Amino acid sequence: MTIAITGGDGYLGWPTALRIADRTDERVVLVDNLARREWVESVGSTSGLPIASIDERLAAARDVHGLRNLSFVEGDLTDKDFVETLLSVHEPETIVHTAAQPSAPYSQIDGERANFTQHNNMQATRNLLWGLEEHDLTDTHFVETTTTGVYGAPEFPIPEGGAVMENQDGRDEVPFPAMAGSWYHLTKSHDAANMRLAHKQFDIPISDVRTAITYGTETEETAVDRRLSTRFDFDYYFGVVAHRFCAQAVAGYPMTVYGRGEQRKPFIALEDAVEGLARLALSDPDARPDDHTVYNQVTRAISIVEMAETIADVAGEFDLDVDVEHFENPRDEDETHKMEIEYDRYETLIDGQSTTFEEGVRSILGRLLEHEDTIVAHEDRFLPGVLAED
Ligand SMILES: NC(=O)c1ccc[n+]([C@@H]2O[C@H](COP(=O)([O-])OP(=O)(O)OC[C@H]3O[C@@H](n4cnc5c(N)ncnc54)[C@H](O)[C@@H]3O)[C@@H](O)[C@H]2O)c1
Repeated sequence: MTIAITGGDGYLGWPTALRIADRTDERVVLVDNLARREWVESVGSTSGLPIASIDERLAAARDVHGLRNLSFVEGDLTDKDFVETLLSVHEPETIVHTAAQPSAPYSQIDGERANFTQHNNMQATRNLLWGLEEHDLTDTHFVETTTTGVYGAPEFPIPEGGAVMENQDGRDEVPFPAMAGSWYHLTKSHDAANMRLAHKQFDIPISDVRTAITYGTETEETAVDRRLSTRFDFDYYFGVVAHRFCAQAVAGYPMTVYGRGEQRKPFIALEDAVEGLARLALSDPDARPDDHTVYNQVTRAISIVEMAETIADVAGEFDLDVDVEHFENPRDEDETHKMEIEYDRYETLIDGQSTTFEEGVRSILGRLLEHEDTIVAHEDRFLPGVLAED
């Protein structure tokens, strides 16, 4: 049996691959075109924690964890021929699909990046789904990290999956309306719809994992050796808000809350996200709730301001004095939206495991302080600015 992890060089894909490979003797094949490293460079930034090359990562995984079942294939999933070869050579029984251009701000820079993001993400997913059908691999469990962003910010509690619609003639559960708020997020709405269709037409078992904003620098496996570190981005385009705030705290820069910042957003620690993906990848088909299941990969909803204040408190433990400042919001969003979201199914999947936000922030700040110079040298990247190539 082979488990393929697309985006295996990425923030989520790499630690997920380590955990899966550590829990199975099966072959685990990482697939990536290493594009994320270039995208971050193109916006003039870098990973806040140094990351090893993929070869050094694999060597370290062998040395430190004895993992001889990990291998890497470089290729672009938008290339149908590449995907065909990948599937026919490896015949994966599970695919954990994390490969994507995952930044909303990057997708919003201009029409070219919006086009690129939509083409990249949707073409990769379609190639994989159709590839499974055309290579007679429709029993392969297809797990994708979509995003909680597909839901947008509705004025009612977000269900874990479809929404019920009814009128005088009937009632049905329908896919949640795609209220995504960026060109990137909408790629995941389309992926969700395409996965549903692939399940309906080809009978491929699907786990659509709607990933929340993920924060953290390490997992049990990566913490053992610096060569195993996963990337950590903190710039305006690629840093998720919790990471940007932590980096700002380390650089002595005020935390930049956009507008009032009272809107609640869903979060999950890297450790808790990796655990769920590993469990799904290694799950017994009979134990899954359904052949098409949506998981809201969330452990907590918290407002941006509350998050900034918590980070400022924890930063105090490291003798960092941090201010919270409100900037004009570059995004079109309700700054007071009180998101409520159901995540019982995901919580059950990981047996209620939940890293607290404070624990996560403490660990991030501890690691980032080792690389304070890198962050300070790039502090002009916290806010949108001129791109390196422009
Ligand atoms: N990190 C988060 O907070 C978060 C939140 C919600 C959803 N997600 C989703 O989870 C997934 C992983 O996110 P991440 O933060 O690890 O991103 P990431 O950019 O670190 O990882 C994605 C990887 O996919 C690779 N990739 C992209 N396009 C490719 C292609 N065409 N062919 C081959 N490889 C390609 C990139 O090089 C990168 O290594 C993404 O799909 C993202 O949309 C992430």
